Amino acid sequence: MDRYAVLVFHDQPLTNEQHLAFTLALGPLENTARNTLRKAADFRLPPTFADVSNLDGSNTPYAADDRRRLFAIGNRLWHSDSSFKAVPAKYSLLRAVRIPSKGGNTEFAHMGAAYEALDGETKLLIEDLVCEHSQLFSRETIGFAEFTPEERERFKPVRQRLVRTLPRTGRKSIYLSSHAGTIVGWPLPEARLLLRDLTEHATQREFVYSHRWQVHDLVIWDNRQTMHRGRPYPPDEARDVRRTTIAGDGPTVEQAAAA
Ligand SMILES: [Fe+2]
Repeated sequence: MDRYAVLVFHDQPLTNEQHLAFTLALGPLENTARNTLRKAADFRLPPTFADVSNLDGSNTPYAADDRRRLFAIGNRLWHSDSSFKAVPAKYSLLRAVRIPSKGGNTEFAHMGAAYEALDGETKLLIEDLVCEHSQLFSRETIGFAEFTPEERERFKPVRQRLVRTLPRTGRKSIYLSSHAGTIVGWPLPEARLLLRDLTEHATQREFVYSHRWQVHDLVIWDNRQTMHRGRPYPPDEARDVRRTTIAGDGPTVEQAAAA
């Protein structure tokens, strides 16, 4: 994982129990139950899983205008899983149970390679910057901005370093995500423009692998050194993909109360 950041295992017809057991062998689980707008009645999977499908509690694709779907498709923006949590995710393990007839690729961008390709001046500029991340920011980007007070409280921003160092290798990476919405101490428009520039740089094709799913694929990625995004697929077709998540080792920066 340190070397490649994304690993693909074809032909793994796992049960949920096997998927979970394998995950637990790699580290402690992150609780992802409160990351979505899915209500308990919609849960198709045990709370140890993030349900990344487009299916409601009766295995039917959400209607195209369903609010839960419109929130969920925010994952088509480049992001790192759970960067909106004070302790963000380490590894994600995603398994394909059903896939649509076309589309639905997952693309990965290597943020270590992207960091190394930055010029020295930019490396210096971003070295000590701290961003605020929230699902409110990523959703605002796609025009999804109506949240209840409870949701606003649940999704309030956390802080993350913009440059991370992978502990075992010492390799640096840019810790970007569409959830990043501000840079502490910077005027907002300038912060958004720097984040956009860095994202454009980091997602050039030379840094990107596009995964075309097959049923029974298991793909594991390191959220500390990659971003990823889902690609569109026909909304009336089922895409049943199930994720477990390994918790990170700790916060990337001391958590002052985020504004
Ligand atoms: Fe994701």
